[in-house]
Amino acid sequence: MNKPLRHDVLVIGSGAAGASLALRLAEQYRVAVISKGPLTSGSTWYAQGGVAAVLDTEDSVESHIQDTLAAGGGLCHEDAVRFTVENGPDVIEWLVSKGMDFTRDESTGEFHLTREGGHSHRRILHTADATGRAVSSTLTDALLQHPNIETFEDHIIVDLITQSDHNSRRVRCTGAYILDRQSDHVRAFQAKCVVLATGGASRVYLYTSSPDGATGDGIAVAWRKGCRVANLEFNQFHPTCLFHPEAKSFLLTEALRGEGAVLRLPDGERFMPRFSDKAELAPRDIVARAIDHEMKRLGVDCVFLDITHKSPEFIAAHFPTVREECLKYGLDITRDRIPVVPAAHYTCGGIVTDLNGRTDLKNLYAIGETSCTGLHGANRMASNSLLECLVFGWSASEHIQKVMATIPSPEVAPAWDESRVTHSDEDVVISHNWDELRRFMWDYVGIVRTQKRLERAEHRIKMLQGEIQEYYRNYKISRDLIELRNLASVAELIIRSAQLRKESRGLHYTLDHPEVASIAQDTILVPNNFAAQDIIVSHP
Ligand code: FAD
Ligand code: SIN
Repeated sequence: MNKPLRHDVLVIGSGAAGASLALRLAEQYRVAVISKGPLTSGSTWYAQGGVAAVLDTEDSVESHIQDTLAAGGGLCHEDAVRFTVENGPDVIEWLVSKGMDFTRDESTGEFHLTREGGHSHRRILHTADATGRAVSSTLTDALLQHPNIETFEDHIIVDLITQSDHNSRRVRCTGAYILDRQSDHVRAFQAKCVVLATGGASRVYLYTSSPDGATGDGIAVAWRKGCRVANLEFNQFHPTCLFHPEAKSFLLTEALRGEGAVLRLPDGERFMPRFSDKAELAPRDIVARAIDHEMKRLGVDCVFLDITHKSPEFIAAHFPTVREECLKYGLDITRDRIPVVPAAHYTCGGIVTDLNGRTDLKNLYAIGETSCTGLHGANRMASNSLLECLVFGWSASEHIQKVMATIPSPEVAPAWDESRVTHSDEDVVISHNWDELRRFMWDYVGIVRTQKRLERAEHRIKMLQGEIQEYYRNYKISRDLIELRNLASVAELIIRSAQLRKESRGLHYTLDHPEVASIAQDTILVPNNFAAQDIIVSHP
């Protein structure tokens, strides 16, 4: 039982990024795919709007690039944007070859393309309003059928394993310690290449559209092993999540606004034209801030999304999931305005990578929402995330194939030592700290920030981290404890990043520095044990 499990490639995460990479590599290598819940429990499953790609003859790669750069507030890396957009059509073709069923236009039989904020063309491929469910089940079915892929559900990464090369001082990644939640044991998984595809960290906030697992685990484990992280102050708040006491983080897709829905105040006034000439289709940072501003100005709990002017047939055909979910709460979106509030949705920053998904730690890759490739800059444009997952799933797989033959087999890692810890008799500490952290992050590091609020958050996170570390040293680990430790670590990195940015740009808005600086710079945090003796990764 204590012997390490060995594969050629270890992929942590089974969302669009991890699953697509695993499928591409499995033609040649033995691949392990780890998921801390069911294979479909990541954010990918919940995606509604779709995948952005240039497929319409009226559209152009250049236009998609310019829209992405504009939404990113001057901080996107143009090479990363160009790379992602140019490879869009190919990865869509690959996904379709795996069985993905995008909605087609009834009259032409071509893919139906919808529109979302920031996009100047219709370029969002979708499967009605449940695109993520279709992507996730297509990829998961393929994972389960592949003879070279072994999947491990309910397994959670605790930390990465590294070893020093004999002939150089360089450290490389050779696997991970992983908790099997069924047996409650930690086991070493070893591989020549390890890929983090663990998704985002939006659970660091009290109100979020993201599923329970979005706790930034990949960012935290990579940081602990010496990888740089970048631009973590840019957490995206989606403008429209359902506001209802019983609805848990249900998103109302931006495609509703793309198809004509408008935002109204409680008295019925349509307010977005006062904030942007793009009105409801302005980039998300602008819409979320406008809603926050109006809610605070009027002292109201929510604003309203209104699509009642469209026919019930149109709404039923385009938004069946949203319609059904709202009906559960007594809201008929064909007749009623929908109460909405902004909620944390997407982590634009993450582990620094190059265009092959390589991190600072040799043989460790990071792809999907956990990474910072330079694509999103200060604000991600809608539906560019699934695209990034698929493009970097492909590019990292290409790089792994290129270098695999040169990588020596890992030395056997020591077994996980649990001899000095006991079972906790006070799990309430975990839930209390978890609640406290998410609340102060919402209050002090949310849509509108100030230096003073950030200082308060810094003070609190230091206290919490002390307590969590002590708890971690003394008690047996569990999923909740692993996640809390990682959330606290990512919260600290977000706060530090926000404190370093002395301007307002994209998703980072501070009352102390409301202006945009003349030079756009990434916020790069370098850990004390920075892994790269020679810097292989130049992005961002
Ligand atoms: P995820 O899909 O989040 O998968 C993460 C994987 O990592 C899971 O398998 C999880 O179990 C595993 N994991 C995490 N931590 C650990 C650990 N410690 N140990 C083991 N396994 C772990 N983007 C778009 O482009 N278009 C959209 O329409 C869209 N709609 C969205 C709607 C909602 C409600 C949300 C929340 C997000 C939406 N996004 C959308 C964003 C997009 O869905 C995500 O950014 C993307 O799916 C992330 O994919 P991923 O593969 O990086 O990670
Ligand atoms: C949505 O459907 O509004 C979400 C799209 C995204 O986050 O890219």
